[in-house]
Amino acid sequence: MRALITGIKGFVGRHLAQLLLDKGYEVWGFTRMEAQDSVINNCNLVKVDYSNEQLLINLFNDIRPDEIYHLAGQSSVKFSWSNHLDTFEGNALNTLRFLESLRKSSICKEVRVLTIGSSEEYGGVGYSDLPISESVALNPISPYGVSKASVWLMAKQYSQAHGMRIVHARPFNHIGPGQGQGFVTTDFATQIVRIEKGEVDPIISVGNLEAKRDFSDVRDIAYAYTLLQRKGMPGQAYNVCSGIPVSINTLLQTMIQLSKCTSICVEKDMSRLRPSDIPVYYGDPSNISRTTGWQNKITLNESLNDILEFWRKK
Ligand code: GDD
Repeated sequence: MRALITGIKGFVGRHLAQLLLDKGYEVWGFTRMEAQDSVINNCNLVKVDYSNEQLLINLFNDIRPDEIYHLAGQSSVKFSWSNHLDTFEGNALNTLRFLESLRKSSICKEVRVLTIGSSEEYGGVGYSDLPISESVALNPISPYGVSKASVWLMAKQYSQAHGMRIVHARPFNHIGPGQGQGFVTTDFATQIVRIEKGEVDPIISVGNLEAKRDFSDVRDIAYAYTLLQRKGMPGQAYNVCSGIPVSINTLLQTMIQLSKCTSICVEKDMSRLRPSDIPVYYGDPSNISRTTGWQNKITLNESLNDILEFWRKK
């Protein structure tokens, strides 16, 4: 089997590539033109410009993957508030360019495609909508959410109109070793590790601690994606989530307990707040469980431990 991962050098892309290699896949990856020339062991990497339609068509015709995981995009909700255009370009427009090139390629009808959305597509939901199932109306409130809802609409339309085998994943928050700066567990872990090493005073800066989110480990999410490729219904969206709400404060306190610090002072940093932040957010995983048998295997504590360990070794 041959898989192509767009955005292979991203947080999820690296974990997914490893999982597919372990399963015996031949793995290809698309990276951005401006990406650094680093290698990912045993994967074939190609730099692509999504606006070069003929280049993409030729690559699809030549590589002929059985499965494509379209992970490339701008993944930060926070960044999207100050970078609306880049977010829409990276997520929505590049997905349109990707799908349009794929439609014109010779593998259009055979290849299985997974597009990646987000729980942010649901946006401002009411308490009566919790846990959020796929039937809840989309009401995105962040620029990021709008861009991901657009990805879903395109996935559905290309699937229906052109008979393409596109399944759409809606992951809730995913965390784990290797996630970049600017996401909550990385922001907390990097500060905690510096405190452990005695590099800074024992003060941690935080944003909104009241929000509740639904966390899964990136390695569980990557596995879910491989199952959705094989078992998901084209033209359908699937939540990928634990179904358990955890407050950001609980997350912080758990990380402090797992650290080697005896006492840490918590300080609110107004620059970490967002113009709008959904208060409580957790999903209903029944659909993906029923369809693929998937459920989370890695506990929150294991994830948080691995994240701290990752940053201690950096
Ligand atoms: N980043 C960050 N840093 N967030 C903080 C902090 C902090 O210091 N303190 C509190 N928070 C709160 C945020 O306000 C938000 O409510 C929550 O922690 C999670 O923030 P992020 O980790 O930045 O994730 P996100 O929910 O905005 O987006 C993530 O999940 C989406 C799915 O729900 C990303 O992984 C997206 O790519 C993904 O689609």
